[in-house]
Parts: sequence; structure tokens; C-alpha cells
Amino acid sequence: MSQVDTLLQKPGFMFAMGKNNRLQQQLARRMGQAYQRFRHSWGGLLLDPYLRDGGNYRYRRYSVFHWKNNALDVLPHEPHYQSSHYNRVHGGFNRHFRAWLPTTLKNPALKEIVRWATQQFSRSPAELWRIQAHQFRIIARPDQQGKPTPEGIHKDGAEYILIMMMDRHNVNGGVSRIYDNAMQPLAEGTLAQAGDLVLVNDHAVYHGVTEISPADPTQPAWRDVLVLTFHKA
Ligand SMILES: [Fe+2]
Repeated sequence: MSQVDTLLQKPGFMFAMGKNNRLQQQLARRMGQAYQRFRHSWGGLLLDPYLRDGGNYRYRRYSVFHWKNNALDVLPHEPHYQSSHYNRVHGGFNRHFRAWLPTTLKNPALKEIVRWATQQFSRSPAELWRIQAHQFRIIARPDQQGKPTPEGIHKDGAEYILIMMMDRHNVNGGVSRIYDNAMQPLAEGTLAQAGDLVLVNDHAVYHGVTEISPADPTQPAWRDVLVLTFHKA
């Protein structure tokens, strides 16, 4: 059992930032241009029309994959459904989001990220994982904060979750917070640079992210994040 795996079981989460971030180093060294294209694809997301607070601060795309024996299979496109148990605000009904673009799905950086993540918790390469993949952009304006987690402190109803920063531009706030199962704070960290990530054992902890606002109110502000939720298939 790796040290990372131990951390994922207890306390149930692991931040990887800066020099401790092997994945970011691999991506930058081995596939720099593809990784740049992958990150730039967040510029092509579409407005989330389902926000119950009436906000227009969230842009996204959504696709579902299978992962087994180092192979990533994109499943037929489907609506995103969360039970109202896990998402009190946006659960209990189907939400229809646009799929990831084919070029993003084929980007080798995606496979590298999935490979690294599953290596942290999977017992065997032959295990089959169902992965719900979200590209999120949260924007903030002087008159409207952006809420990375409008449902508040929550679980995703998965086994594990990867939350990875793709771009953070002119943003204040957006602090990732981890809570134990009694909802007492355990830790917090800011995914400040591209590649910074937190891996979460969804059974062991709750998570949430604070609102964002523009650092310079005269300039655009956005926070681009990749969220992969891993489910036993
Ligand atoms: Fe979440």
C-alpha cells in the first residue's frame, strides 16, 4: 500500500501542490503542448442553465468514461443525475449538459490524469471504474460572486474524487475545505496554480469550496477546474 493510499484511507484526502505534485510534473515534462491544449479547452464550455439561485456564473461540459486495464472508453452521452440525498439543490432530476469536445476526449493529458488518479487508490489495473468527468468554469463579477459548490458542504456519492486546477485568473477566495463525517473542519487549501489538486475519499470526508470574487474588479475573473468522480462499476 502506498503512502498516498494510506492518506486516502485516513484522514481521507490528499492535497498535491507545487513540488509534491508528481502528476503536474509528468504532464509538464512529457506532454507540455497537449497539456496546454487540454487546459485551453476550458475556454469552450457552455453556460449551466440549471442553477437554482438564478446565477449565470457556471460553465461546464460533462462526459462519462469507463477505465480498465489502462484503457479509457468514452460511454454514450447521458444526462447527469445526482440523487437529492447527495445534492439537495440540484439533485433528483436529469440535467442535460453538452459533452466534452472530441479533441479534449482524445487528449493524452486526460488519460495520464486518469491513470495517475486510479493508481492512487485502485487495487488492480483490472478493476473497472465508471468516471463522471466535469469541466467547470466558475466566473466572478463585481456584482456576482461565483459559487464553485452552490450545494454547500457535500459529498458526490462516489468512491473517490479528483479535483484539479486548470486555471485561476484574477480570483480571490475559492478555498477548498475538507470536513469529517460529523462536518467538522479537517483541513483547507487553495488550489492556486495549474495542476494543483486534491484527491478525496468520498466515504471518509465531506468537501466544499468557498465563493470567488474578482481580485481586480475591472478585469474578468475565472476558476477552471477538472472534477473526476470515480465509481465502482
Ligand atoms: Fe463535489
